[in-house]
Amino acid sequence: MLVIPALPGEHNLKDYIRAREEFSFQSVEKEFSWSTTGRVNIVYEAVDRHVEDGYGQQVALYFEAGARREEYTFSRLQHESSRFAAVLKKYGLQKGDRLGIFMPRSPELYISFLGAARLGVVVVPLFEAFMAEALKDRLGDCQAVAVVTTPELFPRLPLAQLPALKHVFVVGEDIPAGTVDWHAEMSRVEGTPSMEWVGREHPLFILYASGADGRARGLVHVHNIMVGLLITARWVHDLRPDDIYWCTADPGWITGIAYGFLAPWLLRVPVVVRGGRFNAEDWCATLARYRVSVWYSAPTAFRMIMSAGDELLSRYDLSRLRHILSVGEPLTQEVMEWSLEKLGLPIYDTWWMSETGMNMICNYRCMPVKVGSIGLPFPGIEAAVVDDEGRELPPGRIGNLAIRAGWPAQFRAVWNDPARYEEYFRHRPWFISGDAAYRDEEGYFYFQGRLDGVINTSGERVGPAEVERKLEEHPAVARAGVAGKPDKLRGEIVKAYIVLNPGYTWSDELAGELREFVRTGLAAHAAPREFEVREAIPLTRDGRVDRRVLREWVLGLNRG
Ligand code: PRX
Repeated sequence: MLVIPALPGEHNLKDYIRAREEFSFQSVEKEFSWSTTGRVNIVYEAVDRHVEDGYGQQVALYFEAGARREEYTFSRLQHESSRFAAVLKKYGLQKGDRLGIFMPRSPELYISFLGAARLGVVVVPLFEAFMAEALKDRLGDCQAVAVVTTPELFPRLPLAQLPALKHVFVVGEDIPAGTVDWHAEMSRVEGTPSMEWVGREHPLFILYASGADGRARGLVHVHNIMVGLLITARWVHDLRPDDIYWCTADPGWITGIAYGFLAPWLLRVPVVVRGGRFNAEDWCATLARYRVSVWYSAPTAFRMIMSAGDELLSRYDLSRLRHILSVGEPLTQEVMEWSLEKLGLPIYDTWWMSETGMNMICNYRCMPVKVGSIGLPFPGIEAAVVDDEGRELPPGRIGNLAIRAGWPAQFRAVWNDPARYEEYFRHRPWFISGDAAYRDEEGYFYFQGRLDGVINTSGERVGPAEVERKLEEHPAVARAGVAGKPDKLRGEIVKAYIVLNPGYTWSDELAGELREFVRTGLAAHAAPREFEVREAIPLTRDGRVDRRVLREWVLGLNRG
């Protein structure tokens, strides 16, 4: 096993162990203004407080997409987001109402998020690849009263099927009839800083995540998430105010929200956001142009740069880069060796999920890294491997990766569905993650895949049942079974087993049509890359798709 020694520095192994024993999240609470004032809002801690402390002119956001390049200071974010809060107020939105944000990365996205949260309005981030059905499910479930979107994405909103939706704010040039011009409204209201104080347990955002069953679940995160974000930004990401931080995840996913801007801004660290499509060269150019010092990305991205070859790297000055982290998919030894050799730095893997809200099991600069391991639980977090009855398993045994309930960034509910929330906690005190893992004698954890059939393709989470339901709407498909097939580049790809209806024969055209059907009906990242026609789909006794057998099929264990 490849082991990378701990870096000498401000932290060492003993400190980490001591921190694990002595640390309590309560000690972090002292760092927030609400510990003395009693007035809570994450936007105050992430933006306004820095302005009040005299750092208003410091850049908070470096934005780039195509030809658009902009910088936003903390002061400007404070004013613009206060303006958007005023717009929402003008349109009658109140504390607790839900606002969907459905748009590609742009400064307006972040301003809308902050403006809503400033008012106590609950944000519902929607990944830009979602199509009508996915939008209807999510916005309908949480009864969103307003959405922020762009002229390009607007046509996907199934307005007729969303009776609770009253206002659509559009950011762009061609404002569709019946919608509100985001920019025009912003210019009509005052940007005087305003703040609605909320409770620590007040919802901040509802993030829809796919599970094994057919419906996406609305994971409710609250303002208290800031406690977990601040301390992991410091101890895992090693962030300091003189860093430039680039978390490459989209704000439609948990990583792009929690670490894309909230966590770094709590520590007053400027972030880079790059929008639009980009290739391996753009990655390197962005790292170099903004002199990125801490970079949080995913194995898919590292592999993309790796396969572009050494010549590319040699053309860019990446000397400011001092810390690299990874999330979302297994970090392989091959990628680690590439990084050590070509970038001169190890990559620190972090394990967590939408439900946990914060990094949970990580590798740290102050600890030796065992390559292939997701690392050790963050101080204050207790992790275990348990069997299907919730009993702890000894080192070396594979089982359910579980976390002791009650960490600060924990999701607080599944919107509208207490039973599905309780399912995660069916073996209290443990939260059951859905991942398989084992632990070694020294307490390091090793990820062993998902247990429930949820697919992870390029770090994006796809619910197999949602894809099956969509495929079965197509006249050619009698029954579908969908699973993740291991893939060198993407971690997993979506593979669909299909039973055809009578009268249909399989062809490449039909495959293309089905792929397009899922792409346009549900979401691009959910479209199957591979199909296979079968006589039947394996079912459990109660008539559900048998995910265990499908897993054997994709792994080629059963030619059935
Ligand atoms: O299977 C695990 C995988 O991503 C899942 C969570 O997906 P999501 O909620 O979209 O959040 C992604 C990023 C926080 C987990 O159940 N996963 C997450 N981190 C890792 C990982 N798989 C392998 N290695 C990781 N470091």
